[in-house]
Amino acid sequence: MGLVEDRDKWNTRYAEAATPPARPEPHPLAQRFERRLPAGRLLDAACGLGRGIACAGPRIETIYAVDLSDVAIATARRLWASDPRIRWIVADVAALRFPRAFLDMVCAFGFTNWALLKDLERIVAPGGFVLYEGFAERQREVNPRLDPAWTATPASLLRLFGHWEVLACAETESDGPPYRVHLAAVHPRQVKEA
Ligand SMILES: C[S@@+](CC[C@H](N)C(=O)[O-])C[C@H]1O[C@@H](n2cnc3c(N)ncnc32)[C@H](O)[C@@H]1O
Repeated sequence: MGLVEDRDKWNTRYAEAATPPARPEPHPLAQRFERRLPAGRLLDAACGLGRGIACAGPRIETIYAVDLSDVAIATARRLWASDPRIRWIVADVAALRFPRAFLDMVCAFGFTNWALLKDLERIVAPGGFVLYEGFAERQREVNPRLDPAWTATPASLLRLFGHWEVLACAETESDGPPYRVHLAAVHPRQVKEA
């Protein structure tokens, strides 16, 4: 699926949502590691209605909320109107070139993009935090049409993040589909030379 089709698909989903939108709850990973969450700049990658925004602790100063869907951003903007820290960006988040070590925390929930995941080594500051959850490869057993590029396994995540301080990397416990995998990791203070 191309970016335009993807944007149209998500715009339709957000426009036709049956229940009135509400601010999402913080992701359980943020609750689990609450005491360690950093200060500074947070990126909510593919923010939707702002589950990553909900993870921002009080020490976060600026939140970059990025989504391909202008309908998601318009809706989220209304939900979070009282939070002056947020900069709203309608864009393909993987195409944004953040400067090296610019971000102190990145949340990517319900969004697996390997170009972005690989770029986190560069754009996250030493000691910065990444919280991620996406479809597990196993989800293809129930949805064979799911693009394998939109899935991950603990092993594929550890190939990228194995040298970070990995706080959690596992299949998310569930009684059934959708099957998901999650990661919480802290950027290494000694960056590997490419
Ligand atoms: C499953 S939703 C997750 C939303 C939110 N992160 C959450 O957990 O509730 C996936 C989101 O990814 C967005 N999206 C898809 N491709 C994207 C891209 N390349 N760049 C930015 N956002 C994207 C969609 O518009 C949609 O809002």
